[in-house]
Amino acid sequence: MTRGKLLYEGKAKRVYATDKSDEYIVEYKDDATAFNAQKRGEWAGKGETNNAISAHLYPLLEQAGIPTHFLGRLSEREQRVRAVTIVPVEVIVRNVAAGSFSKRLGVEEGTPLPRPVVEYCYKSDALGDPLINTDTAVSLGWASEEDLRRIRELALQVRDFLVPYFEARGVRLIDFKLEFGKLGTGEIVLADEISPDTCRFWDAATGEKMDKDRFRRDLGGEAEAYAEMRRRVTGGA
Ligand code: C5P
Repeated sequence: MTRGKLLYEGKAKRVYATDKSDEYIVEYKDDATAFNAQKRGEWAGKGETNNAISAHLYPLLEQAGIPTHFLGRLSEREQRVRAVTIVPVEVIVRNVAAGSFSKRLGVEEGTPLPRPVVEYCYKSDALGDPLINTDTAVSLGWASEEDLRRIRELALQVRDFLVPYFEARGVRLIDFKLEFGKLGTGEIVLADEISPDTCRFWDAATGEKMDKDRFRRDLGGEAEAYAEMRRRVTGGA
């Protein structure tokens, strides 16, 4: 498999074409950004850690019946994925109030939500990923109603798999963000990554934050927290 043209560069990843028209290579970078890239940083090992965590979780999600873009880990920083067109709608699933939800609604961080809350944002760096609803996405042609129904169903299936998975490893999954892609056939699959960049993880025993909030909130210890999450998720792989 050879790496071809750079197709897309995001804040934490690069996507390359390959010699196969239906496969891409994703490269995980060490860069960290927050608040729509107004805060920037990086630390050694971040890309490898996020690649390892995602590469561990996606096959498990596949086994649980959730179609994903993941095909295999190629190297410390790279993975092979199915070529998709990303649906420009970021899906946030919340189990416990935190972050922008707490701020927007005045609900104290750490308040458990009796039922999961699914939120949608428009994936746009220029606009800072604004909150939208599904009518907005359909009206502006970003996804069909049927696609959005499937996306919501898959997002909740991901939650149902991940919550007990992390619980068994001493981690509370507070919330997370997913992205979905469309294959040439029209099938919706889970794309992007699941990592401490895209989830809130709180240690079940101490409540300590083990995710990107350490960087966002200047708490320090981000490299150690990511490494610990890698150890808990993969058992050291
Ligand atoms: O900031 P907010 O509370 O909306 O974030 C909710 C969840 O979505 C967090 O786990 C955060 O890491 C993730 N997120 C993300 N990318 C964004 C916005 C939020 O991964 N652009």
